Amino acid sequence: MNASELKVEAARAALAHVGDGMRLGIGTGSTAEAFVRLLAEKVAGGLTVIGVPTSERTAALCLEVGVPLSTLDDTPELDLTIDGADEIDPDLSLIKGGGGALLREKIVAAASHRMIVIADASKIVDTLGRFPLPIEVNKFGLRATELAIAAAAENLGLSGPVALRMTGAAPFVTDGGHFILDASFGRIPDTRALSNALHAIPGVVEHGLFIGLASAAIVAGSDGIKTVH
Ligand code: 5RP
Repeated sequence: MNASELKVEAARAALAHVGDGMRLGIGTGSTAEAFVRLLAEKVAGGLTVIGVPTSERTAALCLEVGVPLSTLDDTPELDLTIDGADEIDPDLSLIKGGGGALLREKIVAAASHRMIVIADASKIVDTLGRFPLPIEVNKFGLRATELAIAAAAENLGLSGPVALRMTGAAPFVTDGGHFILDASFGRIPDTRALSNALHAIPGVVEHGLFIGLASAAIVAGSDGIKTVH
């Protein structure tokens, strides 16, 4: 099976955790999209759920395939969030934000009783950081924020290019109206320290380190499906 097929298998396995009447956070990315399409089939078959999407892109897909939606304002407490990830470590700490939705993804995950990550096995790492860390930043003072991020990283012994994410010739803009800086620091041995240091920078809106949010990961590989707790 290729990576796309494995993502579908992980998404299919996650459906077993979705019960009738659940309030669901629904992630962003290709794995989450596979989940939405499979969920829509269940909804068509009579399953009742209400979904809170983590991006405009996911909202549009849910509307297209018939998954009923709410907002986090109307449904501020969720039973379960199903979302993908860019990296997953053995403690279920994650790097997310490859699709640019990390802020809403983190808010929705934090409002959920449980978060289940769905992924193909290529996302499993020993230590986070091979995937560049997405950092969502305010447009104002971009250069100053960039410098502050580099300084905070250096204090922790980390360094590497910090690149403004682009879409063609223009900066990528998140659903919240912010920019994303992708920080290639390499291995991040102390994720909590980096998380705290980034949160202390005023121009940083949020970052893609998800620590203590995921309750389980359903990982599909060539040897089958594994659930990591
Ligand atoms: C979006 C995300 C995605 O979950 C992450 O990028 C994984 O994407 P995919 O399922 O396409 O591999 O964090 O912001």
